Amino acid sequence: STIPKAYNEPLRNYEAGSQDAKLLKAACDKLRSECPEIPCVVGGREIKTGNIGKQLVCSDHAQVLCTFHQANEQILREAIEVSLEAKKSWEALPWEDRAAIFLRAADLLATKYRYEANAATMLGQGKTVWQAEIDSACETIDFFRFNVKYVEEIYSMQPPENSKGVWNRVEYRPLEGYVVAISPFNFTAIGANLPTSPALMGNVVLWKPASTAILSNWVIFKILREAGLPDGVINFLPGSGALIGNILLDSPHFAGLHFTGSTAVFNSIMFKTAQNLNNNLYRGYPRMVGETGGKDFHFAHKSALVDNLFHNTVRAAFEYQGQKCSACSRAYIPDNLWPELKERFIEFSKQVKMGQSDDFANFMSAVIDKNSFNNIRNYIDHAAASPDAEILIGGKYDDSKGWFVEPTIIVAKDPKYKSMVEEIFGPVLTIYVYPADQYEETLALCDQTSPYSLTGSIFAQDRYAVATATRLLRNSSGNFYINDKCTGAVVGQQPFGGARASGTNDKAGSNLNLLRWVSARSIKENF
Ligand code: SER
Repeated sequence: STIPKAYNEPLRNYEAGSQDAKLLKAACDKLRSECPEIPCVVGGREIKTGNIGKQLVCSDHAQVLCTFHQANEQILREAIEVSLEAKKSWEALPWEDRAAIFLRAADLLATKYRYEANAATMLGQGKTVWQAEIDSACETIDFFRFNVKYVEEIYSMQPPENSKGVWNRVEYRPLEGYVVAISPFNFTAIGANLPTSPALMGNVVLWKPASTAILSNWVIFKILREAGLPDGVINFLPGSGALIGNILLDSPHFAGLHFTGSTAVFNSIMFKTAQNLNNNLYRGYPRMVGETGGKDFHFAHKSALVDNLFHNTVRAAFEYQGQKCSACSRAYIPDNLWPELKERFIEFSKQVKMGQSDDFANFMSAVIDKNSFNNIRNYIDHAAASPDAEILIGGKYDDSKGWFVEPTIIVAKDPKYKSMVEEIFGPVLTIYVYPADQYEETLALCDQTSPYSLTGSIFAQDRYAVATATRLLRNSSGNFYINDKCTGAVVGQQPFGGARASGTNDKAGSNLNLLRWVSARSIKENF
């Protein structure tokens, strides 16, 4: 290999009084006083459409973090033309030159822009310092570095045999057309990965970042430009999902989608794409890569260690206010462990620190916006009124300053109670306490309860129990953990993604994902 060895970016801890903590706090203060105005960028040209959106500080929503110009139809059409023009030079560039840009971006983020990226993620997306560091710094850097490694692996995959007098080879071409990247609010790293992984493979990309993550995604875009990304290769197009989806899907040059978001939106995009195929609009079948919803579980066997189960469950359910697609939102606990575990949760609820995202002492902050707050509140109100459920901890919410929801545990009497089944995307964990001797039946129940299959964990000391769960839950998640929390997949270590209603399972952070962005051509030559 000629490329630098990929490694996971070490985490910084920002402990009180440290230089890192001071510099990050200063970056937060600076952002709180700035309110930048962010344009669309098409072919390197910054465009102000005048159709202004606002991103607010979610823990302090009277404050506007940035404003942004939303793409209109004309700009989207221009972006299609400009990207196709840029593709001619970009796909002809040796892949090492493309790779160098992303490796340089990783270094720029690790050194020069780390505080700014973290501060934008903290204030804009409501992440605490630790949650920002693992996302906007480490995971983003890891995506850039490891994707380069995977690209090298892919380009070197060649047929093992040549018959006598024959030379076989495979050429890895980018897709014919452009790729659309639609990224979510909850990980700045996903915002970075969705447009860059197709671009690394020689594709051009039209990127629509989430309206609630504009500032952090803008920082990433700025870094990519500084690292040498040519104009037009990735175009930055904030704005209305419906408009952008309609225009960009309805072109004969639409070649692929890299999406993270809700199951419902992905379904509607699939539907529209199928209609367009039916009308012979496209030249080929678009590559549809989607990571969508989840209803991720922790499942404990009677042999589980309560302390380990407690710590991991609190982290998986409540870190980042339960807004990771991987967050633990249902748990199956055997009745022998419940009395002790229950006390631990009650103790936790009395101690947990929740508040402003740029106060480094907090474990939790606000949820992303008003819609999300209202949606979560409905689940809590439902549980408070339902005979099938009981609220063990939390249950209060307050949106007067920021969109705050207490970490809440609902105990469901019915294992198919609403909040055991539906995705909530907030700090609400629903627990079903099962008779410890009904382990296998309850594993089957866990598999059948939700339409999703993203992440899940088994907690057990008994190896037979581990093996049974691994077998019976085989299709229940795309990422499966043994005695660990169901969040926190690391690029280069646990490729991430799920099946069923959770998406196409094209594993972010692995060569499987990057393979989706090439269209291979087999070349056979006779001598
Ligand atoms: N990769 C993240 C995790 O595993 C979720 O997107 O938590």
